[in-house]
Amino acid sequence: MWGMIATWRMALEGVSKGAAMLEQGGDAGDAAEAAVREVEDFPYYKSVGYGGLPNEDMEVELDAAYMDGDTLDVGAVAAIRDYANPVSIARRLSREPVNSVLTGEGAERFAHKEGFERKNMLTDRAKAFYWKRKKEEETELKPYKGHDTVGVVCLDQRGKMTAATSTSGLFMKKKGRVGDSPMVGSGFYADSKVGGATATGLGEDLMKGCVSYEIVRLMKEGLHPQEACERAVGLLDRELKERRGKAGDLSVIAMNNKGEWGAATNIQGFSFVVSAEGEASKVYLAMAGEDGRCTCEEASNQWIEDYVRTRMAPVEGQG
Ligand code: GLY
Repeated sequence: MWGMIATWRMALEGVSKGAAMLEQGGDAGDAAEAAVREVEDFPYYKSVGYGGLPNEDMEVELDAAYMDGDTLDVGAVAAIRDYANPVSIARRLSREPVNSVLTGEGAERFAHKEGFERKNMLTDRAKAFYWKRKKEEETELKPYKGHDTVGVVCLDQRGKMTAATSTSGLFMKKKGRVGDSPMVGSGFYADSKVGGATATGLGEDLMKGCVSYEIVRLMKEGLHPQEACERAVGLLDRELKERRGKAGDLSVIAMNNKGEWGAATNIQGFSFVVSAEGEASKVYLAMAGEDGRCTCEEASNQWIEDYVRTRMAPVEGQG
């Protein structure tokens, strides 16, 4: 048995690639890395890797992480510039006994020493979005709508589970800002004895609930991944609204070591991708209901095609 789940429709091609590897008996670490790299390399996704939107200084600073659920090894990079595949650097770091989470210049120095591919990650398209936003003269930092982190959870035929994430974080963020994606327990968690989870949405709020660890903890108590996701999102959403008056976007996915999966969100229209033994990769759309409850429906082919079409539409001011 094997399985894979990932955040957002943008992961579809990557999941299909990873699923083919798992089907042939491949390793959950290799499949997770391959799936995330596919998204990092696609220039039209504005929130991950090449083509990701820049910070307020017009620099693309990327966050990524990897966790091995057999050994509980964790590796992460934060605010790294000019490297093509942050997830691979994070995975390499996960094998280090110490210094396994590196930021900024330290992460870049490590990547250079290890021979990772250097690349200018700022595209002309991302620059056009930057200038367009500048013209709008927004002074307040607002999470950019319609983008987010790619996060995957994999289960291979030997029962190994992994989790990986990658993101350019918030558009127009402050230099050095780090979101939830490279933070173990918040953006991701994997334990092969139980399952794995990853999160996407407003990092500053996801961190407040250590939501990925919470989901794995709930699955360890015996909850189905769907129940665990709904309960974790419902609780965090409620606490944030009670104590702070509002909650940012919170969306999560999870899979347990039996290949059962779940997803939850507090927004209307969180897409995710699932692949499992005997089934082609499918895109689902989750809709928030009351108290963390969600409905998940398979997305239509039209919706799937429109998603890519809108991401590839010309940007005003480009060229
Ligand atoms: N969830 C991604 C971020 O806030 O950076």
